[in-house]
Amino acid sequence: MMDNLDKSSRSVLFRGNTGHFGGDTLFARVARAVCEAECLPRKELFEAWETAKRIRRKMRGGPIVELAAGHGLLSAILILLDDSTETATCVDIQRPPSHEKILASLEKQWPRIKGRVRYVEGRIEEAKIPIGALLASVHACGRLTDQVLDLAINSRNRVAVLPCCHDLETCDTGGLAGWMDGPLAVDATRVARLREAGYRVQTLKIPEDVTPKNRLILGWAE
Ligand SMILES: C[S@@+](CC[C@H](N)C(=O)[O-])C[C@H]1O[C@@H](n2cnc3c(N)ncnc32)[C@H](O)[C@@H]1O
Repeated sequence: MMDNLDKSSRSVLFRGNTGHFGGDTLFARVARAVCEAECLPRKELFEAWETAKRIRRKMRGGPIVELAAGHGLLSAILILLDDSTETATCVDIQRPPSHEKILASLEKQWPRIKGRVRYVEGRIEEAKIPIGALLASVHACGRLTDQVLDLAINSRNRVAVLPCCHDLETCDTGGLAGWMDGPLAVDATRVARLREAGYRVQTLKIPEDVTPKNRLILGWAE
């Protein structure tokens, strides 16, 4: 049934949708818990899962700081995929009601994550970054992604961003927009900037049928 599912749908997942996610895989179990919470658009589940999975193949351990976190599902999945991360802190100017509902539903299935995902209402630029952190962000709009990169570079921490809403007025295209489309120029320039700052960088994509804003940038300070 999963194969026919529109993964980019903005329809909220409800209890009645659990049948789409049969089986005993971790994804199916997370998806069913999200359905139980009855608050998250389907697309957000797939974005968080596909991003977290790719991050964890390359980056393990350390505290997570999820910036422009919104519902914060990414943080919870990052802990479920790697128990050696003790805590995650979600940072956003506004905690949406979905955060508590999703977390409560996940904690019911996995009591071991209880108390390990915190939420701080505040601005990205004011976030406290612990030593050895992994800064992660899904769809921090426009310049917000650059602010996540600023924080990572200034603290020399690992970073993983899935950018969106590229604003060609405020984001740096690196002079590349004559050769490639503007949003790609912005992301290519972000990669160049990280490298210039002494980072090793890896570029990946999450599946396009989840979101066209699917470029994932991973960086390690060297
Ligand atoms: C497109 S949403 C992404 C939310 C979530 N990561 C997701 O994937 O659904 C962008 C988020 O950035 C937050 N935001 C906007 N400006 C911010 C700032 N200066 N500092 C922290 N968060 C901010 C908004 O409140 C919103 O939740």
